Amino acid sequence: MSHAEDHSGDRRDFLYYATAGVGAVTVGAGVWPLVNQMNPSADVQAASQMRVDVGGVAVGTQLTVLFLGKPVFIRHRSEEEIAEARAVEVGDLVDPIARNPNLGEVPATDENRSMPDFSGENTGEWLVQIGVCTHLGCVPIGDGAGDFGGWFCPCHGSHYDAAGRIRRGPAPENLPIPVAEFVDETTILLG
Ligand code: FES
Repeated sequence: MSHAEDHSGDRRDFLYYATAGVGAVTVGAGVWPLVNQMNPSADVQAASQMRVDVGGVAVGTQLTVLFLGKPVFIRHRSEEEIAEARAVEVGDLVDPIARNPNLGEVPATDENRSMPDFSGENTGEWLVQIGVCTHLGCVPIGDGAGDFGGWFCPCHGSHYDAAGRIRRGPAPENLPIPVAEFVDETTILLG
């Protein structure tokens, strides 16, 4: 696939969803100022969250959404991708930290980077990460790109594996994971 084709694919895959908190505007006009006063951060919180329906994301594909000005890669990984990512020893990694704010500073195992489903089980099916190269901020190419079956940043040649961990090239850290969780079977809440 040519570079141009790949980029048109990225655009096609971009889906945008309304942010959460729309219900707040239905509050009566007389009540709203009081609510607003009691909870001054509510509007800020709504603007910094986004619900994403991942029900249509097939195994082995990736949905990219724009969240707070940055692309977020939501990948529904295949069994092969999961097995490959889980077979890697943390000692072989450039960056041994998971970079997952949902868990704190924990080792960069695949289990610590992939997202549990709504039941809390982490089968490794879902990997959600901010699609910004940790070198100088380019957007890496996905779908198994690079030498480690994950993402590749062509700007200066950084290779990320199937868990988004930097394996070769100038990028110093794994792709960052956003604050995120499943809020029902098919909806991920970002932020
Ligand atoms: S910005 Fe990705 S390798 Fe330099």
